[in-house]
Amino acid sequence: MKRRGFLIGLGALAAGGWLLRPDNKGAPHAAYFQGINDTLKTTGPGRPVMLVDRQRLADNCQTLMTLLPSRCNLRIVAKSLPSVPLIQDVMTHTGTNRVMVFHQPFMNALAEAQPDCDMLLGKPMPIQAARQFYRELENASGFDADQQLQWLIDGLPRLEQYLALAREQNRQLRINVEIDVGLHRGGLTDPQQLDALLALIAANPEHLIFSGFMGYDAHVGKLPAFIQNADEGHRETEAIYQSYIERLYSQAPQYQQQTLCFNGAGSPTLALYDNDTVLNELSAGSCLVKATDFDLPLLDGFQPAVFIAAPVIKSLPGLAMPGPLPLGSLWKAWDTNRQHTYFVYGGYWKAEPVSPAGIQANPVYGVSSNQMMYNGSNETALNMDDQIFFRPTQSEFVLLQFGDLAVWEHDSISEWWPVLPQGAGA
Ligand SMILES: Cc1ncc(COP(=O)(O)O)c(C=O)c1O
Repeated sequence: MKRRGFLIGLGALAAGGWLLRPDNKGAPHAAYFQGINDTLKTTGPGRPVMLVDRQRLADNCQTLMTLLPSRCNLRIVAKSLPSVPLIQDVMTHTGTNRVMVFHQPFMNALAEAQPDCDMLLGKPMPIQAARQFYRELENASGFDADQQLQWLIDGLPRLEQYLALAREQNRQLRINVEIDVGLHRGGLTDPQQLDALLALIAANPEHLIFSGFMGYDAHVGKLPAFIQNADEGHRETEAIYQSYIERLYSQAPQYQQQTLCFNGAGSPTLALYDNDTVLNELSAGSCLVKATDFDLPLLDGFQPAVFIAAPVIKSLPGLAMPGPLPLGSLWKAWDTNRQHTYFVYGGYWKAEPVSPAGIQANPVYGVSSNQMMYNGSNETALNMDDQIFFRPTQSEFVLLQFGDLAVWEHDSISEWWPVLPQGAGA
């Protein structure tokens, strides 16, 4: 009796499990990706490429400019768009020549290629990197670093290093001060800390010029809403920012007569700013290409503009898993999205498959950066030499992994844009 009950229970469980089978999520490429697929199949390089959709990029620039409060300038975050022609295209569409830089080789490459650009560091550079920048600067004859570059300084010890460098090089360095507006990633934590920096700058006017503040607010909107919503978080960062400006003006009123650079924000928070802000410059980069990490309600108006296209090397019916157990057959019987197997050229990127619909990695088979397995239902219908498309989860590193960027424009690859030199901490 007991045994019969057990068998009935097992049967019910199996039937219930069967009813819970995942739906078939597979579909062929939609027209947009089918067009790219067909072009790459016949005229592409036959290896994974990073595509930039130039029209979508232009549209995103337009969207960004409509969000930007009129009292603020835009500064392009170079690390998130790590290619000189890509940054130049964005400069053309947004009308700004301001860039935020995070990596010494990027700085030199930009100074050389775009000598009229205006640079602000996005993180404090070790003094040796600053020294290296000046060593390599000779190639960029049109770029006047003393006028066009603001170093980022997070405290007195670093300012002392930069003063020594300025003396050594007989230069006058522009100093932007990093302030902590709540992110807690360094910078000044109390407005009074400003006094010592201002005193050192005032005592060395031939070598140091104060140029403004940078206060990045990436923490805003990240907390659960019951702790703090994005608007509250934003109001708090504005108040902290203002307390530094007030301290500055009370300690050194002459700065009220100058145009300083009060920089902040980034893609995730830019839409929170309006003309009541105390900042006069907002930074953004990632929203213009919109990797998946930027699928945020505040960025709904932006479209994904970069995709990895990876050729299918092998298109195999079924799901064959290594080993003596019929795991693959059982799995594909239970989940139609495992009916078909594709091995692609490359893989294991920080990226999510986006087309055809219903494609997914196989966590049991494992990952490979050589030939990675993906599964889909029969409806995904890809053959050898078709493409699987992916969206990077973030742009700053993934865009550097494919060589030149393939510019998708008017239904073909119109140009190849070189990427900036790779290195940790782009
Ligand atoms: C200092 C600073 N400002 C702004 C940004 C925003 O960049 P994005 O718009 O690409 O998110 C970043 C990103 O890391 C940053 O470090």
